[in-house]
Amino acid sequence: MSRRSASAPPIPVHVERGIDEPLHRQVYRELVQLILSGRLRPGARLPSSRMLADELGVARNTVLLALEQLLSEGYVETRRGAGSYVSGELPDRSPQRLRSHAPQPGRRPRLARRARSLVVPANRPLPARGLLRPGEPDWAGFPLALWSRLLAESWRAPARAMLLGDDPAGHPPLRAAIAEYLAAARGVGATAEHVVIVSGIRQALAIAARLLLDVGDPVWLENPGYPGLRGPLVAAGAKLVPVEVDSEGLSLQAAQRLAPRPRLICIAPSHQYPLGMTMSVARRLALLEHARQVNAWIFEDDYDSEWRYAGRPLAAMQGLDRDGRVLYAGTFSKILFPSIRLGYIVLPEPLIAPFLAARQALDDQPAVLAQPALAAFVAGGHLASHLRRQRRRYKARQELLLGAARRHLGGLLELGADPGGMHLIGYLHPDLAGRMDDREASRRAEAAGIAAPPLSSHWIGRATHQGLLLGYTAVPERQIDAVVARLAKALSASATDRPDRT
Ligand SMILES: Cc1ncc(COP(=O)(O)O)c(C=O)c1O
Repeated sequence: MSRRSASAPPIPVHVERGIDEPLHRQVYRELVQLILSGRLRPGARLPSSRMLADELGVARNTVLLALEQLLSEGYVETRRGAGSYVSGELPDRSPQRLRSHAPQPGRRPRLARRARSLVVPANRPLPARGLLRPGEPDWAGFPLALWSRLLAESWRAPARAMLLGDDPAGHPPLRAAIAEYLAAARGVGATAEHVVIVSGIRQALAIAARLLLDVGDPVWLENPGYPGLRGPLVAAGAKLVPVEVDSEGLSLQAAQRLAPRPRLICIAPSHQYPLGMTMSVARRLALLEHARQVNAWIFEDDYDSEWRYAGRPLAAMQGLDRDGRVLYAGTFSKILFPSIRLGYIVLPEPLIAPFLAARQALDDQPAVLAQPALAAFVAGGHLASHLRRQRRRYKARQELLLGAARRHLGGLLELGADPGGMHLIGYLHPDLAGRMDDREASRRAEAAGIAAPPLSSHWIGRATHQGLLLGYTAVPERQIDAVVARLAKALSASATDRPDRT
């Protein structure tokens, strides 16, 4: 007859001999598993140590050691003269109980109110594979062999500081190289101390917004604009004030009517996204003056000013700032490759220490891994030659896109040249607009393997224009005509036709 009492059914504990793990550790681990999986429920009685030892064929001391550990960690409790029990304090994790709490399929998780603006279709990433994807650099033109050499060299004998990565502002030689590059190329007045390495412009804004904004503070944003800037602001509790743009950039008059005292002004003055105008000097000065009067900050998003194909670009607005109001942010996503996840922010002196403190409170600098190679790439003049080569290529591709559009897109999309950037806008021709909106046009393009986002999705609220963003930088010259012909076919099919990929 079994010596086991009726209240303690057999417990499926298995131990293995001849492995590294001591037997008492195995018994302990198995019992923890049974408790956490709910097979041993809170309050359940455990067999006596003698019984368990018999069952497992181990010494009683082995079981006692395991029970002691369980006791000290609070998994089991002892009742005087009545043996050991699974602690009644633990939550009931039995399978039946867990099932009753299982999420219902299709049920939405409860999110914070401010998260609703983060989880919106406008933030949907572009299809990874489509052609004409805006913002995608030309892969073939990236000097990969040089890049791998710089990566390898920079890690051959890394200094202790590189391994520790203990400078919250980023790898010092990279900061110095960026300061020098920005002074020469963009007229930015900064030393290495003002430059902080970030994972990109959005991270720069995410930290700046938490640093500078209280919940509900108004922030002027260009409308239309880059949807990626909304998330960092919304997450900081900002009140977005979308402001229309005219041919000179963000309309100061309209902005003053909407919210005369912004706390922060977010603009891309070098090359408005997605429309492409450059903010006039008069508008820049007026904005700086307004910011001074109402004590606002300006976040200058200089995401792609390197891509300029005609004339010299206007210098950055930061260089005009005499009052320490401009936070200037740039990125390597567009000039090298997006997954490098490295960018920079140039801060006014008084913001450096608070910015670094805030970044350390939230996270730390991005991985140091690629920073030394990037420093060598910038300081060694490779960035400048890469930009020169790619500018020629992108300029040619833009011209080819315009030519192909003239041949194939008549009555569908209307394109105009842009002296810079990585995409052109194909505005919906009235004939096409009579048949579909730009979201439908974008869906049709996507079904044909073309990743051309709708222009209207760049507005907050009602869009005033309909079009498609057509990125030309990553499409090899010889393919451009065929891709545009394919786009034309997808758009001219009647509403009932199924778009095809041939
Ligand atoms: C206007 C604009 N600003 C900022 C960014 C974001 O840059 P990052 O990848 O550095 O966050 C982009 C990227 O597409 C952009 O188009």
